[in-house]
Amino acid sequence: MDFIELGYDYLIDVPEIDNQHKELAKRLNNSIKHCTGKKKDEERFYYENMGKSIGFLRDHFELEEKILSKTKYENTEKHKLAHKKILDKIIKMNDDIEKKKNELDLFYVTAFIREAVMKHIKTYDIVAKKYFIEGNKL
Ligand SMILES: [Fe+2]
Ligand SMILES: [Fe+2]
Repeated sequence: MDFIELGYDYLIDVPEIDNQHKELAKRLNNSIKHCTGKKKDEERFYYENMGKSIGFLRDHFELEEKILSKTKYENTEKHKLAHKKILDKIIKMNDDIEKKKNELDLFYVTAFIREAVMKHIKTYDIVAKKYFIEGNKL
């Protein structure tokens, strides 16, 4: 079983967004598979992937914000702020690891991002589903 499975209760019904959510889940599932306890391997995986994953997450958030901004959704600003908070936390965590302020714990990093992203999809994205569908048509 995968670490994350996105069932249909997670579908937004905007293919581009759903595909990005699936890609995020895939990246997290891949990351958990690389938690082997072998420091060198974990570090190699982390440095090869983290930058790309942060960039991917940023692009994903931008797409959602672009779609929601076209609608009359009353919580667009709140949703944007939630995106910003997640990104800020992940970037800070990554900086601390890159600057060797914190030692890499790949399992912790993966679990932290999983929690933040999955909770966000449930409590923000799904709730705005109607507006994503509407905005995507505009
Ligand atoms: Fe999302
Ligand atoms: Fe979102």
